[in-house]
Amino acid sequence: MMRNSRRVGLPDIRQRFAEVFGGEPATVVRAPGRVNLIGEHTDYNDGYVLPVAIDRSILVAAAPRDDRQVAIHALDFGESVTFSLDDIEHDQARTWSNYQRGVAYFLEERGIKLPGLNVVVIGDVPIGSGLSSSAAVEVSMAYTWQVLAGFKLSRVELALLCQRAENEFVGMNCGIMDQFVSALGQRHHALLIDCRSLHYQPVPLLPPLAPPRLGGTPRCPPRLGGMGGAAIIVADTMKRRGLVDSEYNTRRRECEEGVRILQRYLPQVQALRDVSVTQFVEYEGQLPENVRKRCRHIIYENERVLRGATALPVGDLDSFGQLMNESHASLRDDYEVSCAELDIMAEAAWQVKGVYGSRMTGAGFGGCTVSLMAEEAIEDFRGQVAAAYEKATGIVPQIYVCRAEDGVSKL
Ligand code: GLA
Repeated sequence: MMRNSRRVGLPDIRQRFAEVFGGEPATVVRAPGRVNLIGEHTDYNDGYVLPVAIDRSILVAAAPRDDRQVAIHALDFGESVTFSLDDIEHDQARTWSNYQRGVAYFLEERGIKLPGLNVVVIGDVPIGSGLSSSAAVEVSMAYTWQVLAGFKLSRVELALLCQRAENEFVGMNCGIMDQFVSALGQRHHALLIDCRSLHYQPVPLLPPLAPPRLGGTPRCPPRLGGMGGAAIIVADTMKRRGLVDSEYNTRRRECEEGVRILQRYLPQVQALRDVSVTQFVEYEGQLPENVRKRCRHIIYENERVLRGATALPVGDLDSFGQLMNESHASLRDDYEVSCAELDIMAEAAWQVKGVYGSRMTGAGFGGCTVSLMAEEAIEDFRGQVAAAYEKATGIVPQIYVCRAEDGVSKL
């Protein structure tokens, strides 16, 4: 959610709560942002995604009140709002509060009687950079209420409720990926999510060491997560995602059109997830060009996610990186959601020795790339990619090493 990329910690937010409201918060909750390793725009096509919850998060400190008012102070904006749980309305002026309002609205709609709260919120997930600060805000707020009101919703139900808040209250028609991984992410793991069944499988980023090969040197698969071996790096183009809402909805409509046309030949197809590569090759000629390109991306991207989820745990980072690069090209050429800045950043990364793969991550039209590299390559990456990017665009990028963290938790 927040404007800057500085790190925040627990003592800070407790102290700030005391300064704003007096007294101690009853709870402090952390919900992570995410970076998606592969599987872009597949979630709303009932497909597969492979995101990681990251060590950049939203922190919420809260205490219940005796009335039904919710007072929120957003430290990063230096702004406060108060609203009543008996009359939850959209806020046109302080739009950042619509995420919390939406969560409250749908919890109440489920028949859960919420207590009023005093809330302080702060974060180090950069806003509008495609690292899902909004999902982290929603999930942190829903979980805070769960902790303080004691109702029982599973983490999957919480994620679905937060998605609904974003779709129907905020008005962004997103899929389930961001809220899901913010709620259910696991430390040292990516999460392979089947966005139709909502089954998920943690995919280890720290593979167990393979046994030594007889007569040879011991084989150690690269380890991921900043703990020796390989690293996940996020590079922020600093270009904020402008067109994203309208283009996102257009892409959704084009995919739905693809499904409608393909159903004439393949009546069992409910979503692009149901179309195999072989079937696509057979029927792609029936689709108008733009729809054909969108469908091609989704159908091949689902394949890439499944192949990637097999390559990662055995430490086959060369294959995984290749899939990331193919994903970027497909998002650029077929799905057409990249932009000059993202292409420059990814292409600069591809030139760095030790980089396995690099691609745009998130919805597109700005935001970040995600790259996978040998740890020894991090400094070269920082130097070379930042220099190439700045030379081409005149913009200084932000580059972060990311660790895979747990989903929402109480601190
Ligand atoms: C945004 C949405 C997600 C997903 C991605 C693209 O982050 O919130 O649901 O569709 O874009 O993969």
